Amino acid sequence: MNNFEFYNPVKIIFGKDQLKKLPLQIPSGQKIMMIYGGGSIKKNGIYTQVLSALRDYQVIEFGGIEPNPHYETAMKAVEIIKKENVGFLLAVGGGSVIDATKFIAAATLYNAGDPWDILAKNTVVKASLPIGTVLTLPATGSEMNMGSVITRKSTNEKFSFLTPFSFPKFSILMPEAAASLPQRQVANGIVDAYVHVIEQYLTYPSNAPLQDRFAESILLTLIEEGPKVYLNSADYNAMVNLMWCATMALNGTISCGVSGDWSVHMIGHELTAFYEIDHARTLAIVLPGIWKALRNEKKEKLLQYANRVWNIVDGSDDEKIDKAIQKTVDFFESLEIPTKLSSYNLDTNAVNRIVDRFEERKWKAIGDRQLITLEVVRKALEFQL
Ligand code: NZQ
Ligand code: ZN
Repeated sequence: MNNFEFYNPVKIIFGKDQLKKLPLQIPSGQKIMMIYGGGSIKKNGIYTQVLSALRDYQVIEFGGIEPNPHYETAMKAVEIIKKENVGFLLAVGGGSVIDATKFIAAATLYNAGDPWDILAKNTVVKASLPIGTVLTLPATGSEMNMGSVITRKSTNEKFSFLTPFSFPKFSILMPEAAASLPQRQVANGIVDAYVHVIEQYLTYPSNAPLQDRFAESILLTLIEEGPKVYLNSADYNAMVNLMWCATMALNGTISCGVSGDWSVHMIGHELTAFYEIDHARTLAIVLPGIWKALRNEKKEKLLQYANRVWNIVDGSDDEKIDKAIQKTVDFFESLEIPTKLSSYNLDTNAVNRIVDRFEERKWKAIGDRQLITLEVVRKALEFQL
């Protein structure tokens, strides 16, 4: 096991009727900006409930955060915050709203130049406004981590940044609010959480049996509970489990002492940036391709995954790996998430465009043990044509 530090200060408030605790989490006298997306919270009543809980505060609103949130929109919020002297940001929605809020919080206090550098050049963030979140969509884990992913619309670039200043002070996780999710978003959430686990687990053995079993237990729970939520997002008993799985998948616990991969996400982000394919859907395309391209390098973990997650015990090693890849593809496709580029009318031009962009950025190799060279990126995507 590698040396590690673990720090996660996010207070989680989970379950039914928890919004009444919202005012207890924010220091009194703060001027709050409530940040939300395209209006789902107005349709399902969460908007009214949040405003009612905050009736003793001065609240201004900033709606219209897009899925795959735009830098351009976030910067409009920064302007208003500076003018209005806002002291606390409350994100209400899914991962995009939370990610945008993290960026807005950092960009407001950034005084080392252009805030875009935080994303494009990974410049150091030295402070952020405090944020809290009300989560309505289980998927990204953003509610309990320090990551954020932002898209610059004008250049079709999608970058992430990480800073401990982005940890929310608290997150209220609302499985009931997620009852209004359309099937497509539920499916996206299941697959995003699944691939988050895989990116931290399926590399190589590193003497971390506890982290491995944590990871496998999240995968098994997603396989068990995910389809129930997919069939009925109002199934509260299943939704609580999906929501907690998604949070646990990316709050730092399973990555302690092990090295990760994240190449599936890095390649997937390009598919979203160029072709606006939903985040999780890009992962479902790229993951099987990476496994096919690196089946030897990832062999031991692929076999462990085949055995412990899919109970595959018969056949040669190669056959077991093939079966595990197929089981994973079948799981994604059972949620109506395609795994081929052709399902999005993409061909080798898309492969070239992504490889060219990595080349322009001078990325020689990414991911697990820096195994994912440009050749591997090409090969992985070609498997998925
Ligand atoms: O915008 P509104 O109207 O709220 O509608 C949203 C949006 O259209 C809707 N929605 C959310 N809660 C709902 C609901 N509709 C009905 N009922 C509800 N209760 O769902 C749509 C998608 O929302 P979005 O926030 O975009 O989805 P998700 O949570 O999957 O977030 C995706 C973004 O997170 C990033 C992705 O790259 C993408 O930009 N990620 C962030 C990560 C992180 N910060 O750690 C890690 C992930 O790997 C990921 O990259
Ligand atoms: Zn993801």
